[in-house]
Amino acid sequence: MDGGIDNNRDWDVDSYEALKLRYSAALKLVMTRLEILNDELQEVHRYNPIEHIKGRIKTPESIVKKLRRHGVESTLDNMIEYCNDIAGVRIICSFTSDIYKIAEMISAQDDITVLSVKDYIVNPKPSGYKSYHLIVTVPVYLSSRCDQVKVEIQIRTVAMDFWASLEHKINYKFEGNAPDRISLELVECAKMVSELDAKMLELNNEIIEISEQTTGRGRS
Ligand code: GTP
Ligand code: MG
Repeated sequence: MDGGIDNNRDWDVDSYEALKLRYSAALKLVMTRLEILNDELQEVHRYNPIEHIKGRIKTPESIVKKLRRHGVESTLDNMIEYCNDIAGVRIICSFTSDIYKIAEMISAQDDITVLSVKDYIVNPKPSGYKSYHLIVTVPVYLSSRCDQVKVEIQIRTVAMDFWASLEHKINYKFEGNAPDRISLELVECAKMVSELDAKMLELNNEIIEISEQTTGRGRS
């Protein structure tokens, strides 16, 4: 489904503004749902899995660039069909285990449909990139209709995010052709990030266990 044609779509737009309005609404909806989840987990369960949430609407320039990469014309229809990340949300979690919990909670919401899942944590990219990606659709209620709009959700730990932003900057600088030595070093750094994440998770579990023994309650 990812990147492919969604033949089930039953909506059309006649201007970029109309398209942007739908994606902005979808982005707001997903971000609000996540904030509500985080508030509830924090207030009721004393559990704080989300460090922060970022959302962005892809610029028209990068949409056009992506369509060119797909070898298709820059039409509004192609933007909707081929560009899964016009609305993008990035969730930064404390621990790897939080990533799967958050993904499950989002997927369990009745009106959110998961179109595709890419688990680059279990299967990292050759670059070393790790993250959990979901493409979902959410309902956007307009004055006289309801449209299902795609949102890309990337979930990763703070450490994975640190790696990804640095790698992105380096590749931007070298226009995707970083010297081999640097690419190899980045893969090495990605391994260190995984080790750090595993160590932090282990430590947190120990802390929870200790505080449960001493106070009878314990989340981070
Ligand atoms: P794009 O066309 O680039 O969006 O990729 P795709 O449709 O093949 O999907 P994929 O899930 O592989 O990547 C989606 C997004 O994940 C990208 O737009 C980036 O934000 C991020 N990403 C994927 N691979 C890498 C990587 O090697 N390094 C970094 N820094 N980010 C990556
Ligand atoms: Mg993208």
